[in-house]
Amino acid sequence: MLFKFLRNAFLFIGIFLISTTTFAKKKSIDERVDSIMNLMTLDEKIGQMNQYSNSLATGPVSPEGIKPQEIKDGKVGSFLNVKGVDNIRITQNMAMQSRLKIPLLFGLDVIHGYKTTFPIPLAEAASWDLQAIEQSARIAAIETAAAGVHWTFAPMVDIARDPRWGRVMEGAGEDTYLGCAIAKARVTGFQGKGFGNTDAVMACVKHFAAYGAAIGGREYNSVDMSERTLWETYLPPFKAALDAGAATFMNSFNDLNGTPATGNVYLQRDILKGKWGFTGFVVSDWGSIGEMVEHGFVKDKYEAALAAITAGNDMDMESRSYPKHLAQLVKDGKVPIKLIDDAVRRILRKKFEMGLFDDPFRFCNSIREKQELNNPTHRIFAREIGRKSIVLLKNDENILPLSKEKTIALIGPLAKSKEDMLGFWNVEWPDNSDVVSQFEGIEKRIGKQKLLYAKGCAISDTSKVGFAEALAVANKADIVILSIGEKRDISGEARSRSNIQLPGVQEELVKAIYSTGKPVIVLINAGRPLVFNWTADHVPAILYTWWLGSEAGNAIADVLFGDYNPSGKLPMTFPRNEGQIPIYYNYLNTGRPALNDSAIHDYHSGYIDLQRSPRFPFGFGLSYTTFAYSNLKLSSAKMSANETIDVSFTLTNSGKSAGEEVVQLYLHDLVASLVRPVKELKGFQKIMLKPGESKTIHFSIDNQKLSFYNNKLEWVSEPGQFNLMIGTSSADIRLSQEFELEAFK
Ligand code: NOJ
Repeated sequence: MLFKFLRNAFLFIGIFLISTTTFAKKKSIDERVDSIMNLMTLDEKIGQMNQYSNSLATGPVSPEGIKPQEIKDGKVGSFLNVKGVDNIRITQNMAMQSRLKIPLLFGLDVIHGYKTTFPIPLAEAASWDLQAIEQSARIAAIETAAAGVHWTFAPMVDIARDPRWGRVMEGAGEDTYLGCAIAKARVTGFQGKGFGNTDAVMACVKHFAAYGAAIGGREYNSVDMSERTLWETYLPPFKAALDAGAATFMNSFNDLNGTPATGNVYLQRDILKGKWGFTGFVVSDWGSIGEMVEHGFVKDKYEAALAAITAGNDMDMESRSYPKHLAQLVKDGKVPIKLIDDAVRRILRKKFEMGLFDDPFRFCNSIREKQELNNPTHRIFAREIGRKSIVLLKNDENILPLSKEKTIALIGPLAKSKEDMLGFWNVEWPDNSDVVSQFEGIEKRIGKQKLLYAKGCAISDTSKVGFAEALAVANKADIVILSIGEKRDISGEARSRSNIQLPGVQEELVKAIYSTGKPVIVLINAGRPLVFNWTADHVPAILYTWWLGSEAGNAIADVLFGDYNPSGKLPMTFPRNEGQIPIYYNYLNTGRPALNDSAIHDYHSGYIDLQRSPRFPFGFGLSYTTFAYSNLKLSSAKMSANETIDVSFTLTNSGKSAGEEVVQLYLHDLVASLVRPVKELKGFQKIMLKPGESKTIHFSIDNQKLSFYNNKLEWVSEPGQFNLMIGTSSADIRLSQEFELEAFK
């Protein structure tokens, strides 16, 4: 009898358990979030909104440190800067000792690759190759996820028109149209086939918003901007990233027209979570909640926490304002519990989507970590995107590509450097020190005998003692390659420069070597557009090689010896000097546009001591071949707002080698209710052609491409004439034709 009873009881419990787990699996994420939230205390909820960094700090470290007991007490929801399966397993294990065992989210600044380091984002943008950019983010995600990390603080989609700002290296440059396309590619790459897959990491779009316009290019500075510019120029890449499914957003250090972005209701509640319907969560930037005190926007961290949560900031990165003050704010009746619940729900939802509630250790697989971090196909791709990112700025008398027969003197402080090739935001140093230097890349091509070397000077040296040796080496060679530029840590966060010339005596070194009469090729390695006028005026060949990552040396050698025909185009305008900054191609004409580029005091907009044009324009980059543009046709010279015009033209490779051209379509609204830019990029394609080959290229013009924000902030097009321009850069327009947008009938 007893036996029968026990057997039935066990059976019943078994069936109950099976059916409840099956039911739980079938439950929607929202239901699962709700059922956990029902169990959570206020302190546990606030814990989910708290993010700490471990000792690999990427910001000012809090003197309070971290007590493991806080994790075990459920007072931490996320970590940044913990990486590697073993470390993540240890930390996650602590969270598993908490009452509700809510898994931690681990985030990291994976900006251009994890162990395999790719070109810096600005360099990748110079490829104008969206597929390659997406693939770079994809591989970065594969490695990041294999190292146990769930979340990258990328992409940075800030439009940047000021090369003094060190963070231009981290974005896609100055243009909104290109920036939108790249934002989409990067988010798609990071998030892969979607959460739930163990090779997809969450993207974090930053810095919301307008950080790229920090006054004077000075890091952490204020932004003062019209609503129209905000909507038309700075917000679209954020929207593009959101439309691509970005899981999270990071707000920003700057104030926008007086309101810190972190406490900005308009940006976060009204636009992002309101008008745009963003369902993910917003993390603050490092300490930015607390920094509202220094801004003078709030009195103390209690008020800072209030301002941030009210504005829609869900997670506190390292300011420690939420863990200290949110509970009191709720008790004081200042923060309604529904605000806390909304933030926690957004965070938990992502943890569910990432599958962490099903298995908190699902990204912790040491075998996978080892395999993916040493996957040779990643290096092959790093070389490919490396060479696509290089921009050929000058090539007088086709001095490039080089023949492998000549003796080369490789001179300069970056020629043998490995660390500098990795650029800022290099998360795995020194575990990724396996970098191909330029010396190694070139040596592999021409062998030891034909390659001579001298350093010449250090990057920021003021001494010229190394020049004599460099001159002696140059004199023994047929050709000199000079590798100069910036050290890896002088463009990046907190690396604004007032002077963007080549550091130290490097340009003096160029002059000295040039005086030998040897043909000179200059490689410029940098994280931003630099000013190098003497070099640009005298040296016959210049390759802008940015910071190209793990395979820098091989990628550069591929271009130098013609195994790859350079195809990069500048994603930022290069100024003649700092006085021209901010400088960008899509400026407004003014009532007195410059009549020509020379420096004449003629009552027209310009400088009396400098040309108006930039040193190198947006969209510019040469090739070893030439391209001819002809036969522009518009399917109609008129369209109405619900119609489209097909634009076609013939692109011909008119030179002797196969190569790729980035064809660029610009539009100018000739007369409008607001002054419109002289041209705006509205389309581009990257086309590969064999010598002599021609192709018909098509673009479609629709009403979206003709629209702008009017002074009521309505997105509208206005009837009238438009000029359509097809160019090889923003300053070299090869074909153009006007068409009319007809009034709506
Ligand atoms: C501050 C930077 O502005 C941000 O971009 C970065 O993600 C965080 N620090 C975390 O390192």
